[in-house]
Amino acid sequence: MAADGFETRAIHAGQEPDPTTGAVVPPINLATTYAQTAVGETRDYFYARAGNPTRRAYEECVSSLEGARVGLAFASGMASEDAVLRLLEPGDNVIVSSDVYGGTFLVLTTVHARAGIDCTVIDLTDVDALARDWPENTTMVWVESPTNPSLTVVDIAAIAEVAHEHGALVVVDNTFATPYLQRPLELGADIVVHSATKYLGGHSDVIGGFVAVDDPTIADRLAFIQNRVGAVPSPFDCYLVLRGVKTLAVRMDRHCENARAVAAMLAEHPAVARVLYPGLPNHPGNAVAMRQMRDFGGMVSFIAAGGETAAREIVGRTRLFFLAESLGGVESLIGHSASMSHSASVGTPTAVDPGLVRVSVGLETTEDLLADLRQALDG
Ligand SMILES: Cc1ncc(COP(=O)(O)O)c(C=O)c1O
Repeated sequence: MAADGFETRAIHAGQEPDPTTGAVVPPINLATTYAQTAVGETRDYFYARAGNPTRRAYEECVSSLEGARVGLAFASGMASEDAVLRLLEPGDNVIVSSDVYGGTFLVLTTVHARAGIDCTVIDLTDVDALARDWPENTTMVWVESPTNPSLTVVDIAAIAEVAHEHGALVVVDNTFATPYLQRPLELGADIVVHSATKYLGGHSDVIGGFVAVDDPTIADRLAFIQNRVGAVPSPFDCYLVLRGVKTLAVRMDRHCENARAVAAMLAEHPAVARVLYPGLPNHPGNAVAMRQMRDFGGMVSFIAAGGETAAREIVGRTRLFFLAESLGGVESLIGHSASMSHSASVGTPTAVDPGLVRVSVGLETTEDLLADLRQALDG
């Protein structure tokens, strides 16, 4: 049973009461192996790397939220990205946007490059450039929207049109938006990936990844990779993300509301040179974001007027916002991307402005968040 509404599916999809006890929460099923009825006759499950009931509930729930036929859970966002990149053949090229997440760029250039995969960086906000500069051997376009940490918005439908004319797959990293705010498959993408560590889990207590896909051939291949390579989440991790997802809609509404207030305050503050937040009318991606997103998300970045030195000082002065990697949890976090999450991108085409401060706006009282940021900016 899962009625149609997003919030209803977040709570019920894949989650019937336990048939033996009636428990309304799917049990954390720790068994690694399942007794077989006879030689060669297995039940639904036989070995937990291939699948287990807790993981299946989580996979069914999140795939339903993305509007996908199939969902596959992985041990981390990077494991899910790696699995998707394993769809490629030696000699294939992947186009990534100029401010793709640093970890994606690195796994491509340091791991998959050794398997003969090429990578081309193109500014995907310029769809004409994509069509014009298309490398012939491209079989995949890797989109992030909004991007980490610059919050660039890419027109997913327009990119999909160009990519599909060339027979290439479109992958969208939907970590920042979540399926509550944006559903890439409905916009024409072929594959959605997530760092479930962020908003899906939502409580900074689990590392996870997810892939959602519609095409049965791609889904079969990814399920094969998931089982053969085995980068799967533990049943407890599956339970944690499944629990987090139940409140995704209400959390995202509040993340968006608090982020809007933070962006408005930053836009007026003299210590801030530029606010990067797709909800501001002067953001270059505002119109596209209005079209393809329900709301603008919980992330706000800004360029400190005093450059790198000022940025480092600001992130060191907040009290409520913890200075920490990661994002998407209930607690607010702040970071200096160039020296933290994106330090490995320095000197690469995906390098981040050293004056950039990234803020993951949590669910605390709005006024408390504004007061903490103001005192950090005032110095
Ligand atoms: C946009 C994005 N994609 C993927 C990842 C990688 O996910 P994980 O850290 O769960 O492996 C991250 C991590 O920060 C991210 O921000």
